[in-house]
Amino acid sequence: MKVLVTGGAGYIGSVVAWELIRQGDEVVVLDNLYMGHREAVPAGAAFVEGDLADRALVERVMAEHRPDAVMHFASHTLVGESMAEPSLYLRDNVVNGLNLIESAVGHGVRRFILSSTANLFDDPAEMPIKSSERIVPGSPYGESKHILERILYWMDRIHGLRYAALRYFNACGAAHEDLGEEHHPETHLIPLVLQVALGQREKIVIFGDDYPTPDGTCIRDYIHVLDLAQAHILALRALDAGSRTYNLGNGKGYSVKEVIETARAVTGHPIPAEVGPRRPGDPAELVADSLAIREELGWEPRYDLRAILESAWAWHKKHPQGYGDQ
Ligand code: UFG
Repeated sequence: MKVLVTGGAGYIGSVVAWELIRQGDEVVVLDNLYMGHREAVPAGAAFVEGDLADRALVERVMAEHRPDAVMHFASHTLVGESMAEPSLYLRDNVVNGLNLIESAVGHGVRRFILSSTANLFDDPAEMPIKSSERIVPGSPYGESKHILERILYWMDRIHGLRYAALRYFNACGAAHEDLGEEHHPETHLIPLVLQVALGQREKIVIFGDDYPTPDGTCIRDYIHVLDLAQAHILALRALDAGSRTYNLGNGKGYSVKEVIETARAVTGHPIPAEVGPRRPGDPAELVADSLAIREELGWEPRYDLRAILESAWAWHKKHPQGYGDQ
């Protein structure tokens, strides 16, 4: 298939694009390089630099490349930032996403995959969280993804656009030592912990140890980016049989302290840690129930926390400054 990958220069998009090419699909990356890195776009992908807000450009890309499917990663993705700048998320993520969806429908594209998020579940009745759980967005970021899921629902009913909404829990790890995670500014736990191990930061601050969890720190479900990539490809191949929505995680939660402990074991560095105040908006526990995608598509995540940290460490050690030093 020919797949248009928006945000294919970003962390998850570039890994999925790389995996698609490895499996013999054709890839066109559309990315404004606002957060993405040109060096992360896999060899063999066509690259268009541009913004989804530019509707004329999106139309041109659709007309010129005539994709069979769209995978939409391009997005603002920070929960905390969205609490400070809600309009950025509610405007850009929603309007740009709608531009893309509308253009895809107009050009006869029948398959669409949306990067969605665990931030839809701010008040889960059950842990682990099933995809049928009641949606309570935890932030304008989560709300923007919820709106896009609803837009896709209607586009399916009215225009027959088959979609998969994939709700990632905590994406992490590197595809290989030259394809990994780099954000500016970095806010995610695993890269920050590894920056301490590299000597780039003095310590890691644990955001609160008074949560109602066994060691008092927040519990998250860390899922390797290559396992996410497999889920995208399985979902893509299954789309003609109908639209679907899945939660994607390992189904096992680790506390912030457990992540730091595992990073110490993997890196051999003491990684000094200190407890600071809670970060607003952080739920105590988020763990995915991914039974639906396991049963329906045979998805099986292969990487545990240690393997995730080993792969991320290999990337960070080789590229201490990220893509900038290639
Ligand atoms: N944390 C710290 N110290 C830090 C950074 C993070 O203690 O310096 C803690 C956080 O409080 C949280 C955990 O580490 O408990 C993970 O934090 P991240 O910032 O790495 O990830 P989040 O769980 O906040 O968010 C991620 C993605 C979002 C997505 C969400 C869904 O960044 O896009 O997972 O679960 F919505």
